[in-house]
Amino acid sequence: MKTLEIIGKQELSGVVRIAGAKNSAVALIPAAILADDKVTICNVPEITDTDALCEILEYLGVKVNRASESLVLDPKAIENKEIPEHLSKKLRASYYFMGALLGKYKKVEMCFPGGCSIGARPINLHLKGFESLGAKITQEKDRYCVEAEELKGANIYLDFASVGATINIMLAAVKAKGKTVIDNAAKEPEIVNVATFLNNMGAKITGAGTSTIRIQGVETLSGCFHEVIPDRIEAGTYLIIGALCGKYLKIDNIIPEHLEALISKLVEMGVEVDVRQDYIIVNKQENYKHVSVKTLTYPGFATDLQQPFMVLLTQCTGKSMIEETIYENRFMQVPYLNKMGANIEIKDRKATIQGPTPLMGCEVEATDLRAGASLVAAALAAEGKTTIKNVEHILRGYEQIVEKLTNIGAKIEIKEI
Ligand code: EPU
Repeated sequence: MKTLEIIGKQELSGVVRIAGAKNSAVALIPAAILADDKVTICNVPEITDTDALCEILEYLGVKVNRASESLVLDPKAIENKEIPEHLSKKLRASYYFMGALLGKYKKVEMCFPGGCSIGARPINLHLKGFESLGAKITQEKDRYCVEAEELKGANIYLDFASVGATINIMLAAVKAKGKTVIDNAAKEPEIVNVATFLNNMGAKITGAGTSTIRIQGVETLSGCFHEVIPDRIEAGTYLIIGALCGKYLKIDNIIPEHLEALISKLVEMGVEVDVRQDYIIVNKQENYKHVSVKTLTYPGFATDLQQPFMVLLTQCTGKSMIEETIYENRFMQVPYLNKMGANIEIKDRKATIQGPTPLMGCEVEATDLRAGASLVAAALAAEGKTTIKNVEHILRGYEQIVEKLTNIGAKIEIKEI
């Protein structure tokens, strides 16, 4: 097990360069197998989630060549084999192999994906979409076989604008016969990034980024070059850290439009932010005002930022509220923040944060990726030393977090115990 040791209350300044988006890269990597030739993806974050997907690609026979942030994938020798449980359980996004292998071979066998335990996270909408395209699904415990004689375009309405279901249905439909329309599709920037990638390969997708996506099936997809968009959640996490401890901290290589919901809340509470074309400078202020947020699908306030944002609310004067509407179990950071001195109460899906409360370093545990990020933010703002256990969760989604924080003045060390 890895732990992080952080001595808090250091002033953080300098530049943090934001990596490519995890939630985009984890869909682009499986999507690459739809091409008949080599695909190059650049700005791929170096995190354990992308490593786990490359492991699955290699298991399937795809040649993987990684040189720092760029990934060259050659699927010419790929074989359609069942993805074993120990590989699929490593992360949530292994489920994108369902759509990609189904789209390419009309058959896929694999186990239920893994990922953070932040709710039940069923995949019924993905499966319903595959069925609408003509696939038959057999399920034995956690193991699925999804198979079709022919995939045919269909009109699919999603009961919820699910990111995963929208992408998975796009992957299965790009080579289906005829036209597919996904209504109530998710609108996250990662969806647009994946659709652009598929279009670069020769797919015909329009409307990505709106709630209606139209896909005209094509017979073949060829190799291409593509770039992962900047990670809006990593950027948001560092913006929050900057609001807690930053002295003119520059968050670089970002698309500020993807962060509008967070920026408007930061401004509302009194954080100084200077938003430029591809970077933001954040400067800590005193006496933040309390605010309320409700997590929503994009362009609403991202659920992935709710956990780190809660730390900032502990430093606001008055009673702040958070309502988590996307996941039923995404407040697992709360007992640890309270142990550090916060005053947070949870009732159902609502958290009330009474501030400001000084935070004190102690021993805490990352229960999931963003809970881990929230504990890092809290530790940086706390007096004394915080030890965070189960850091593996954090390394799944934050590239070189120790190096990035050290570079801006944090006292942070990673230890293997
Ligand atoms: N849902 C269903 N049925 C489905 C699919 C989803 O009921 O078939 C429900 C989920 O249980 C959840 C809600 O719909 O309550 C939203 O799920 P969605 O499918 O949109 O999320 P996801 O695809 O599982 C991705 C990101 C998450 C991020 C969400 C929301 C990846 C690999 N994961 O998850 O990222 O929170 O979208 O934006 O892209 C993270 O990065 O920490 C993370 C959890």
